[in-house]
Amino acid sequence: MGLGRQQIVFGVGNPNADLMFVGEAPGADEDIKGEPFVGRAGQLLTKIIEAIDMRREDVYIANLIKCRPPQNRNPEPDEVEQCEPFLLRQIDMIKPKVIVALGKFAAQALLRTTEPITKIRGREFTYRDAILIPTYHPAYLLRTPSAKRDVWEDMKRVRAILTGE
Ligand code: URA
Repeated sequence: MGLGRQQIVFGVGNPNADLMFVGEAPGADEDIKGEPFVGRAGQLLTKIIEAIDMRREDVYIANLIKCRPPQNRNPEPDEVEQCEPFLLRQIDMIKPKVIVALGKFAAQALLRTTEPITKIRGREFTYRDAILIPTYHPAYLLRTPSAKRDVWEDMKRVRAILTGE
């Protein structure tokens, strides 16, 4: 088995979405299917979306990194630098009202910060024309179910912003 990826995993969903999720990078399942968040973490993300009474098809889902890193290692700074312009173009085309950054890599890259995710989650940021909400990555929730409560709080905030409450 080679280290290489099968394909670029660009994004999926509604191009007119008000809500956009940005993850880290494709894993093995995503690399095979060519779609972000289709493995275990993706199934949890789908449930998180449904928890605020939306469907996966209503939102747009993309990753910071468009190609699966070998052995699912963390993205390298030069990979972030290479891929970020594609993500920014996606954000500019979709023009979401709310962007949920899933996990440290997406949140730190978009916000240009090195602050840990534990410090930036629970807050909201203005990002281009959107509100950016950093939260924990669903893969982290699979390992740390106790963190689901915080993500639920973040998602309730997302719902309130989208419904204008
Ligand atoms: N984790 C991510 O960050 N993105 C995916 O597409 C799948 C798992």
